[in-house]
Amino acid sequence: MFYMLLDYYSSVSALYFYFVKPRKSIWSQQLKSIPGGLLFSFEGPDKAGKSTQLRLLAASLRQCGYQVHETREPGGTRLGEELRSLLLQFKQEDISPEAELLLFGASRAQLMRQLILPAMRQGAIVLCDRFIDSTSAYQGEARGLSQEFIEAMHQFTLQGKMPDRSFFLDLDVKRSFARLRQLKPELLDDDRFEAENEAFHQRVREGFLKLAAKQPGRIKTFDASLPKSELAARILQEVRNVIG
Ligand SMILES: Nc1ncnc2c1ncn2[C@@H]1O[C@H](COP(=O)(O)OP(=O)(O)O)[C@@H](O)[C@H]1O
Ligand SMILES: [Mg+2]
Repeated sequence: MFYMLLDYYSSVSALYFYFVKPRKSIWSQQLKSIPGGLLFSFEGPDKAGKSTQLRLLAASLRQCGYQVHETREPGGTRLGEELRSLLLQFKQEDISPEAELLLFGASRAQLMRQLILPAMRQGAIVLCDRFIDSTSAYQGEARGLSQEFIEAMHQFTLQGKMPDRSFFLDLDVKRSFARLRQLKPELLDDDRFEAENEAFHQRVREGFLKLAAKQPGRIKTFDASLPKSELAARILQEVRNVIG
């Protein structure tokens, strides 16, 4: 749950996710439609640039005339945002890893049924800030929960679908911490931050790297230390390859 902490401090974006985003569908008739829609996720450690790249890609795709939905995990629905703030209220020692995993799963199940699948049926491109690979890396690899169970949970919550591409922004732990220190020095004194040590984040990174090695067709790895514009161009190229 560490990775949610920063967004919580930096935004009151839940309202935006409920009320501003859905209005975009009003214009869907005039926009280019992709049969069956597309789903892209952004994955990686804290401060890798996921939210930045998601926004840049959304802007590029909208400029090209596509219908784009931006969402995030956990969250994106009323239930999901409630679960997100609930997860944030608990210190690590007060929530079991199993309970945490299932809450992430509940948020995803709701997001899939309420937002992602309907948007895809309308021919939209859905961009999700964190998704299944974060669960596999954080709860599976780093917390040591059963990867088999987590994979079954992905099948169950996604109703058999998978993201068309997942963009893994790979940043080493030192760089991730350096960006974090620059942005939120006060977080370094936070108990939860202190509790999540470097070794944990190393395991998270290894988790992402293993997933990317296992599923090279879906998961595309990018060096997150590249300049933002260079990353954006590479990601857009990958999306162009998918759209054709
Ligand atoms: N490619 C990059 N190079 C340097 N700094 C970046 C890059 N991408 C993002 N940042 C900066 O790093 C911080 C975290 O970016 P953000 O997109 O919020 O990351 P995330 O969503 O992965 O936590 C922001 O201050 C952002 O401006
Ligand atoms: Mg972010």
